[in-house]
Amino acid sequence: MNGKAPHIVQYQGSKRKLASQILQYMPKKFNRLIEPFSGMAAISIATAMEHRAKFYVINDLNRALVEILKEAIEDPSRLAKEYREVWKEQFLYGDNHVEHFYVVRDRFNKGQGTPADLLYLIARCVKGAVRYGENGKFNQSPDKRRHGTNPNTLEQNIYAISSLLKGKTSFFALDYHDIFEMARPGDLVYMDPPYQGVTNVRDNRYFSGVPFGEFAEAINVLNNKQVDYLISYDGVCGGKEYGEDLPESLGCKKILLNAGLSSQALLLGKKATTFESLYISKSLLPLFPAVPKQLSLTEARA
Ligand SMILES: C[S@@+](CC[C@H](N)C(=O)[O-])C[C@H]1O[C@@H](n2cnc3c(N)ncnc32)[C@H](O)[C@@H]1O
Repeated sequence: MNGKAPHIVQYQGSKRKLASQILQYMPKKFNRLIEPFSGMAAISIATAMEHRAKFYVINDLNRALVEILKEAIEDPSRLAKEYREVWKEQFLYGDNHVEHFYVVRDRFNKGQGTPADLLYLIARCVKGAVRYGENGKFNQSPDKRRHGTNPNTLEQNIYAISSLLKGKTSFFALDYHDIFEMARPGDLVYMDPPYQGVTNVRDNRYFSGVPFGEFAEAINVLNNKQVDYLISYDGVCGGKEYGEDLPESLGCKKILLNAGLSSQALLLGKKATTFESLYISKSLLPLFPAVPKQLSLTEARA
């Protein structure tokens, strides 16, 4: 990838930093890139920078998130203007600018918010770490020391993203199963589901978890249709493995990508490298005969 890919806002679990490693396992050219768990669509943006796909399908169960992306790509001037207005409002509160965050959060939770309101809420949270309560309401608090992405920076980034994806992207806010139905041979499906938790426990980071067994079974739909796919799914940090491996019967190959030093471990005064798993579908493997062997735990610990 030439140059750094633009992003709208820092979003938890974003694959922006890993994008160039993930793109190594994509075909050079393909028809559609389908992202069933798009988040802030870091992989669609990086793929469009390399002109690899003709079309893009962006989907996330979180409709409000998809609305941000849709407006950024289709009407960047409107999103930039609305974000600038909401961002500037906070200065009317003087030292009490944190209060403004709660005003915007209330309006968003009452269903009266705009895509710019949610964008502002994400931009003001620590590391874009959105949190949802039992009732599906946004309940994260603001980072008190920051004002959120400067509107000039945001404007530049969304214009750059719009020029990459406008006119070739469709948007959905469906469950991933429905998106799998749309996939056809010649497409590439890139999946980045929420981290594995205990089955059936709500994931408050994303207002919906994805049960492991159900996900593994759904992958068979893509195998049966001979659709190429890549899956980011948990990983290893400090030699400790997170999450269960996808079943071997799916025929994918798992490799570990180096995601750098773990910031959580650093906070505890430890140095530990995080490795994130990437599963490559069987159909893609002939393209990459030199796919590295899966790193053993000992190698990952080193
Ligand atoms: C790890 S994040 C994706 C981050 C993304 N790769 C990026 O770079 O920004 C996982 C996303 O899956 C979405 N999600 C959770 N359950 C889903 C479901 N059943 N169907 C579709 N999307 C879902 C969440 O809203 C969340 O945005």
